[in-house]
This record gives sequence, structure tokens and C-alpha cells, in this order.
Amino acid sequence: MKLADNKATLSFSNGSPSVDLPVYQGSIGPDVIDIRKLYAQTGMFTYDPGFLSTAATQSAITYIDGDKGELLYRGYPIEQLAVNCDFLETCHLLLYGNLPNEAQKKDFTSRVTNHTMVNEQMQFFLRGFRRDAHPMAVLTGLVGGLSAFYHDSTDINNPEHREIAAIRLIAKMPTLVSMAYKYSMGQPYIYPRNDLSYAGNFMRMMFATPCEEYKVNPVLERALDRIFILHADHEQNASTSTVRLCGSSGTNPFAAIAAGVACLWGPAHGGANEACLNMLEDIQRNGGVAKVGEFMEKVKDKNSGVKLMGFGHRVYKNYDPRAKLMQETCNEVLQELGLENDPLFKLAKQLEKIALEDDYFVSRKLYPNVDFYSGIVQRAIGIPVSLFTAIFALARTVGWIAQLNEMIGDPEYKIGRPRQLFTGAERRDVLPISKR
Ligand code: SDX
Repeated sequence: MKLADNKATLSFSNGSPSVDLPVYQGSIGPDVIDIRKLYAQTGMFTYDPGFLSTAATQSAITYIDGDKGELLYRGYPIEQLAVNCDFLETCHLLLYGNLPNEAQKKDFTSRVTNHTMVNEQMQFFLRGFRRDAHPMAVLTGLVGGLSAFYHDSTDINNPEHREIAAIRLIAKMPTLVSMAYKYSMGQPYIYPRNDLSYAGNFMRMMFATPCEEYKVNPVLERALDRIFILHADHEQNASTSTVRLCGSSGTNPFAAIAAGVACLWGPAHGGANEACLNMLEDIQRNGGVAKVGEFMEKVKDKNSGVKLMGFGHRVYKNYDPRAKLMQETCNEVLQELGLENDPLFKLAKQLEKIALEDDYFVSRKLYPNVDFYSGIVQRAIGIPVSLFTAIFALARTVGWIAQLNEMIGDPEYKIGRPRQLFTGAERRDVLPISKR
């Protein structure tokens, strides 16, 4: 970042001395006002719960222009990556800053492929859960449990340790997610295969049984690979900020990623894809397209507490570019499976059409986000609704670890420790219980 010619001056109406605050510029996007010395100079904090106007870090990984609906991974538009690259190329890009050449891709793919197995002890960890446990509860436990196997071999201040931890996490997430699924089905775990693609290997671990050979459908394999690309990273969203804050204490990367998994689970964040599919199925069950108008009235009624899941975004005030790509992927998959008339897809498109013409949504700049169509395409592929957010976590792991390593790799990073505006009781003395 570089010092801008502009600077900010904070003045106070009570005659307190004004404060000059430096302004810094990045390469693209909004400038920042540096308030790091504000408390020392004024004895006051800034106040921004929800971080609506706060840059918590500088980063060179992902850029979002919410007004234009633009998403760049290391400068490359998501639309180009989704069509011209695969997920492992995207992982290389996010981790190291550049798309791999042939040799680099071969080497990176080999390193990831050779770390896809998990310690045999992990299967006993699952046995503690009921078979109907939510996969995100299981995954939070499994990822945190990985710490137990690598805690002693992860010196996060050693760049090589940070890199092998990234490879291990990217490689093992598909294995852990498929184990959580197989456990819920009461089926045996399927070991990874080194002769399959990242997405193909995941599909086989999910859907194969020991009873017969499993053939990967290339259209579904490509669709899943694209779903991973679309979910890979997204600037300083809630779960990425959680991973950064957790990692800033110096904890091991597996524990920090487990914190990200837990945060992503929420319906306002990664849990929205599951909530969106459940919403569509509810509307379908209660009358389908004919009932959309009634449903939308509920959404617009503040007292109903009903939201149009998969719509709206803190940053995008235009169409989320990932939603467009997800809708295209949805079309491809449904056509491949002969499900062009999938009633939920038709219902989702009708909901989108009505919302984009309704002033409630238009005035609030609410558009479909990444979660609006992702559930329909995952369901068509055969992934159960309860596993949607786990798939999101699988794909987002590369973004989380890239952002964590970027922070740890900055010699100036400090432990994150926000302050507060205190509104509680002033000092008072404890009275003996007889006098309370
Ligand atoms: C993800 O941050 C990221 O980058 C996240 C993510 C990523 O890749 O990491 O993109 C992934 O989490 C996508 C978002 C998934 N969540 C949902 O689809 C859940 C539904 N959406 C909302 O909960 C909401 O839009 C949020 C949480 C996504 C954003 O919330 P904000 O920025 O705090 O906005 P807000 O709640 O203040 O909404 C502004 C207005 C409010 O109305 P008013 O008070 O102004 O009258 O819009 C309304 C909201 O009530 N609103 C909605 C709505 N989303 C916002 N009304 C109905 N349905 C919705 N979905």
C-alpha cells in the first residue's frame, strides 16, 4: 500500500485538538484512512460493529467490486477462471499468486494427490457422532481433530510448514467430507484414488461402494470442479475473518480452519445454500410457483422474519457474478441428467424474476448471491442438502489457508484484539448476600 496525497483531518466541536490521519491507497478499490494511532492520540475508539466501513487488513488475493459485480482472484476475473481453468490451477493461483504452467500444475497436482488420505485413526473419531449428526458438526470436529496429528509438526512461522499444511488441508477436505457423508449413510468409507481428478476423486469417495466399479460422469465432474472454483475465496468475509483472527494468536492452521468451518455454517453465510434449498422445497410443497407471490409478501413483511435465502450480500449491490455462473452450471447439469424441467429450478428462476422487478429488492439492491442456485445443482448431482455447506467449506479451504498464510507471512502482523464501547454497570461494591 502507498501513502495517498490526500489526508483526513478529524476535528471535534468541543474544541479538542484536531487529528490528521494518513490515507493509504491500494492497487484498485477504495482508499483507507489509517486510524491505528487514533486511540493514542484521542483516547477514543472508532465504532463499526459488523465492519461495514472497516478494512481489517491489506491483501493481494481477492478483489470484489460490489457495484460492478466484479470478482477477481489475483487479478483474474472469475468468469475466465471458471471457463479456462480447473480448481487445482485456481488453488495454485490463490496460494502462490500465479496460474501454474504445465510443469508447475503437474507438480502441484501430484503433491495434493499424495496427501488425500487421512490417518486411519480419524475413522474412530466419527464413531462418537450419531449417524444423523449434521455434517457440519462432524466436519468442524474432524478438521479440528486434524490438529492432533500435525500440531507438533506445524511451526506456522516456518514457510515450508505453512505450505505443507495448506497442501494437507486442500487434499484432505474431500476425504473428510465424503467420510462424514458415508458415516451418515452407514456405508463403508471409500479410499481416495490417485488416478482421478480432484473433483472426480471426491465424487467416487462420495458415491462409490465396494460392490461395483464407479464411473465418474465427466459433465458432473466438470460442474463440481466449477462449483469449487466459484466458492474458493471471497475477500474478508465472515469465515475468512474468523480464520485470520483465530490464526493471529499463533494457533496451528488446522485449528484456525476449523474455526472457519464453524463460522461458515451459519445461515447468513455459507449455510444459506442449505437454507435456500429448504426454502424452495417448502414453497414447492405449499403450492409451488402459484404461491410465490404470497411468499414474497412474507419476505417483505419485516415482522415475518422470513428472508429470501440466497439473495442479498454485504458487498454485492449488483448481480453476484458467481450466481450467473452457477445458474449456467445448473442448466448444463440438468440438461445432462434430463432434468430440464426440474420444478425447483423453474421456481428459483421465477423467484429471481419477481424479485428483480419488485421495488423492495430493487431499492435495497438485493440480487441472487452464490448460494441461490448452488443448492439446485448440487442436489441434481446427488449431494444431500445437509452436505451443501460442507461442500462450500471444502472449496473455501484454499481461500482460508491462502489468507491465513498471507497474514502469518507478514512480519508486521499482530494478534487481533478489537475494543468496545462499554455500556454496562459502573464500579460498585459487592454486598453480603443478606443485604442484596
Ligand atoms: C455468503 O461476505 C461474503 O462474501 C459471503 C459469501 C462468501 O463467498 O464468503 O459471499 C457467501 O455468505 C453469501 C450470502 C449468503 N446469505 C444469504 O443468502 C442469506 C440471506 N441474505 C441476508 O441475510 C443478507 O443479505 C446478508 C446477510 C447476506 C447481508 O446482510 P447485510 O449486508 O447485513 O444487509 P442487511 O441485512 O442490512 O440488509 C439490508 C436490507 C435490510 O432491510 P432494511 O432493514 O433496510 O429494511 O435488505 C434486507 C434487510 O432486511 N435484506 C433482505 C435480504 N437480505 C437483506 N430481505 C429479504 N431477503 C433477503 N435475503
